[in-house]
Amino acid sequence: MFESIRVVKKGSSPVVVFAHFQDETLPASVRAHAKELGHEAALKDAAEHVEATGECCAISESFSGKTRVLLIGLGKRANLKIAAMRGVGAAIGRRLSQLKATGCSIELTSVLSLTKTDAYDAGVCFGEGLGLVGWNCDEFRGTASKGGKKTKLDVRSSNSEFLEGADAGLALAESANFARTLSQTPPNIATTGYIAKTAQRLAREAKLKCTIMEGDTLERERMTGHINVGKASENKPCMIRLEYTPAGGAKGKPIVLIGKTMTYDTGGLSLKINNGMVGMKRDKDGGCAVLGAMHAIATIIKPRRRVIAILCAAENSISDEAYRPDDVITYRNGVTVEVTNTDAEGRLVLADALCWACEKENPACIVDLATLTGGVVVALGSTFAGMFCEDDALRAKIEAASERSGERVWRLPMHDEYREMMKSPVADIVNSNPNRKAHPIQGAAFLSYFVDEKIPWCHLDIAGVHESDRNAGCFINGPTGWGVRLLADFVDRV
Ligand code: BES
Ligand code: MN
Ligand code: ZN
Repeated sequence: MFESIRVVKKGSSPVVVFAHFQDETLPASVRAHAKELGHEAALKDAAEHVEATGECCAISESFSGKTRVLLIGLGKRANLKIAAMRGVGAAIGRRLSQLKATGCSIELTSVLSLTKTDAYDAGVCFGEGLGLVGWNCDEFRGTASKGGKKTKLDVRSSNSEFLEGADAGLALAESANFARTLSQTPPNIATTGYIAKTAQRLAREAKLKCTIMEGDTLERERMTGHINVGKASENKPCMIRLEYTPAGGAKGKPIVLIGKTMTYDTGGLSLKINNGMVGMKRDKDGGCAVLGAMHAIATIIKPRRRVIAILCAAENSISDEAYRPDDVITYRNGVTVEVTNTDAEGRLVLADALCWACEKENPACIVDLATLTGGVVVALGSTFAGMFCEDDALRAKIEAASERSGERVWRLPMHDEYREMMKSPVADIVNSNPNRKAHPIQGAAFLSYFVDEKIPWCHLDIAGVHESDRNAGCFINGPTGWGVRLLADFVDRV
């Protein structure tokens, strides 16, 4: 949408943006503000247009000399939530992009000051919305696409707190956009090796430590999930570990973030049917989100705690070397798994990382993100991610981060009966119960066999939320980077 977006303090803008509420006349504070900036008449004119309904994100326009004045609705004053500022940022972004605007001055604080909204926080949300809607990934377009020239956008505001917030919000969006670009990268390019190189590059740029476990090391460390799931592909599996250490010495135990990073999921020998395979390049989005979060953590959040990221990277493919239904595999914690369905592969690789983290990292808590089940899409659609967390304190923190980031989670239950469902007649457990019950919970129940009960753990099934199927709000049809902002906020406050 834009070539780049940046915050600038000086200069004038070709577009100035004000806001108003639904079912109210233009507040005096907004009129006074516009007068100060010399746009009183244009604002009054814009407010009289039929478009000026005040409904959230409805935009009305007028001219003040050569300056275009935009008046955007914030909905009803009593209903205003800070999160609405993301939608406002996105709506303004879409309009600015149509106009090929090179600059805008965002003057929303005269109306926000009438509510309890903090100018900095509003700026953060606005910046997130603008940055997210501004994402574009034209890398894979060729000579048959036109794609006109994109503009660089300068964002200004007469309110310095708002502007500072917008700068922070844009930075967060950039971390999410990093995850989205990786998600968009097709599976013939974004192979396991490519993911490893991307993690190494991020480590170099953001001063993280990066180690890649592959080949013999996977064997030596008994990463049986990676080895088996990745066997059939010429793109060999690897487990990628990134470590952030605070500059001034670490406080407490580290936080471990784990991401399912299936560069492609054909289903394996339990091959996906009826077009169920298309889009499975995005089966790496848990890992993409964790990488994006590490970007934010290392460059923006800089917490006092150590943070460790583990990406379980493999390609679930088919060949004569493929692992098969009926195979039994043994994990490093001694648990044996009868493979009943090679398409339930995500849990098999995540199990390696969960075992490893519990055994080696002495974590304060573990959060894993995975596009684990189609069942969670059926249950929750694209509105909430499925959350499994039996630790009250950790769950409260994840829910708080969810509330602030707007990345919604909905708790799903865990019970011993679900764990019972995973028992195998041959080995300890199966990777999928052949009945069609409670798939998302089966996934979480399976994973629980690899987590030390004393370690707080949260599993987020993001299969419904990692991509958007329409152009709306902050997103276009494509990857959402879901989890980057939630994890960044979580690590910031934990
Ligand atoms: N990657 C898929 C889950 C998925 C489905 C993600 C749709 C995004 C959109 C996962 O590996 C999978 O195939 N899950 C199976 C599990 C089943 C075989 C137990 C599923 O959900 O059908
Ligand atoms: Mn699968
Ligand atoms: Zn998968």
